[in-house]
Amino acid sequence: MSEGKLKIPMHVGIILDGNGRWAKEKGMKRTAGHLAGYKNLKRISKYILNSGTKYLSVFAFSTENFNRPIEEVNYLMNLFIEGFNKDRKFFMKENIKVVFSGRREKLSQEVLHAMDKMMEETENNTNGVLNICLNYGGRAEIVDAVNKIIKDNKENITEEEFKKYLYRDLPDIDLMIRTSGEIRISNFMLWQISYAELYFPKCYFPDFNELEYDRAIEEYTKRDRRFGGTSKNE
Ligand code: FPP
Repeated sequence: MSEGKLKIPMHVGIILDGNGRWAKEKGMKRTAGHLAGYKNLKRISKYILNSGTKYLSVFAFSTENFNRPIEEVNYLMNLFIEGFNKDRKFFMKENIKVVFSGRREKLSQEVLHAMDKMMEETENNTNGVLNICLNYGGRAEIVDAVNKIIKDNKENITEEEFKKYLYRDLPDIDLMIRTSGEIRISNFMLWQISYAELYFPKCYFPDFNELEYDRAIEEYTKRDRRFGGTSKNE
């Protein structure tokens, strides 16, 4: 990526969409698209976190995804188990800290174990944070935060205090990308995207490569972020 005057977002979010269509168009099973998506996630997370961005959040599996056919859910769960167990080495080498957001309920012991091992081993890595949203819902995150607040007998809390009850202590998302041409948020990080710039490339996630990401950053650089105030350029 050419440096120059490009703006580098602190926190990028990606909805990894279009794996199924990518596979179907190639005459393959949907699950082959998920495998290609996972491989691409490793490649693109390395690229993004090496470009100066400190946090990358990705939507790997929503609470609603449990309603997909059982074979597809099982395939994804096995991909998480095998991928996280095998790729601890990769994330250590790339010095990336991996964390997870979402509800632990409904996930098998094997999946939870693979997630926990990944988090433990990469905990002290310093070249950026990859936040994998798994069994995640944006509304569920807010409701879970409210329930923790009730348990703590808190009253009248501020936005800053509320944030501390979310799954992870992360800054707001600056740039939110959804691949595959769908123009929806689909319950992804509702609190954190309040002022995010939204970007919807047409390509499917397995094809979302370095060049596509550079295009997103060029577009992000052109945006005039006002956060409800007036433009810096006015
Ligand atoms: C959406 O595409 C994708 C998913 C529901 C799963 C995302 C999973 C991966 C990229 C692989 C594993 C990732 C991690 C982080 C371990 P879709 O199936 O809805 O595609 P479609 O809209 O074309 O049907």
